[in-house]
Amino acid sequence: MNTFAQIHGRAPEGEWAAPGRVNLIGEHTDYNLGFVLPIALPQTVRAQARRRDDGLLRLHSTRGDGTVVEVAVADLAPGGVTGWAGYPAAVVWALCEAGHEVGGAALSLGSDVPTGAGLSSSAALECAVALAYNDLYGLGLSAPELALIAQRAENAFVGVPCGIMDQMASMCCRAGAALHLDSRDLAMRQVPVDLAGAGLALLVLDTRVKHDLGDGAYAALRAGCERAAGLLGLPALRDLGPADLPSALAQLPDELRPLVRHVVTENERVAEAVTHLDAGDLAALGPILTAGHASLRDDYRVSCPETDLAVSTAVAAGAHGARITGGGFGGSVIALVNATAAESVAAEVATAFREAGYATPRTLTAVPAEGARRIA
Ligand code: GLA
Repeated sequence: MNTFAQIHGRAPEGEWAAPGRVNLIGEHTDYNLGFVLPIALPQTVRAQARRRDDGLLRLHSTRGDGTVVEVAVADLAPGGVTGWAGYPAAVVWALCEAGHEVGGAALSLGSDVPTGAGLSSSAALECAVALAYNDLYGLGLSAPELALIAQRAENAFVGVPCGIMDQMASMCCRAGAALHLDSRDLAMRQVPVDLAGAGLALLVLDTRVKHDLGDGAYAALRAGCERAAGLLGLPALRDLGPADLPSALAQLPDELRPLVRHVVTENERVAEAVTHLDAGDLAALGPILTAGHASLRDDYRVSCPETDLAVSTAVAAGAHGARITGGGFGGSVIALVNATAAESVAAEVATAFREAGYATPRTLTAVPAEGARRIA
């Protein structure tokens, strides 16, 4: 058999990077086929990869205890690889399952995306591997096609019924912009977000309350939304506009009403946020963020005392607005602040956490960064 290098004239190896994300607004709307508005973080997962022609997938993480996981690509099956190695294995499985002729690879994975912080480290890992394989095996798949492979990997192999936002954000975000994505047809537009030019900064406050979508609560919310859409005779909650909300709520059982109210109002908040960004009025995003948090806290019920305290403290300390970001159940809060106030707002949140007996939050500053790419 000819080696890849003989056929393509180029060593089948390199390094790829895929970022984590924060979502500005549009939470739990993606699996309802609505709208989201994420930005990519400068923090990335990096995959150093070399094609192997012996059919083995060899996975090494520079982060953990140095364990190496080795599995034959032909033997990959959902549930067969768990823990961190399950994500890259899942992507290779999903590529095979979609009919792509891929074989082995040696992957060395490094990351500075905080894990369990609601910043989408899992999708970043999946996307780094998907892009590496796309290049190593010359698959020619587009960024949205790779995002769909990564989502399929997470849904069917890892077992988390996530929507498409995280993978699309990691694959398709551009530096200096938020990704306005329609989750139904994946139509997207890059909306410029010049925080520094507006004298603003976006703080990310990781509460260190472990966020985990794998324990059933996220799946239950998604199932509730799908049940509500079914009862209303709609393909998805995305198809419900604000004007139809009162009559729709009247038709639903009590427990589903708040879920539907959140999804419909959240889609509206995405539209409003995009209008403000297009008009260059970035500070006007603030109240939209805070309203989104109230909806996630009171209607969708995915907040927790730590994220609520971070939001209320940041707003009281002068933030234009703040909200939990990502799936919820802990994780991170974003706060839109004047650049000059970033340090004092972060310090006030840290003080409030200390007084409440919570762990010290970790603070990052989010600058809209570039999506997945080859770096070597
Ligand atoms: C997680 C999921 C996404 C999305 C968010 C909530 O991040 O992976 O698909 O559903 O939660 O908006």
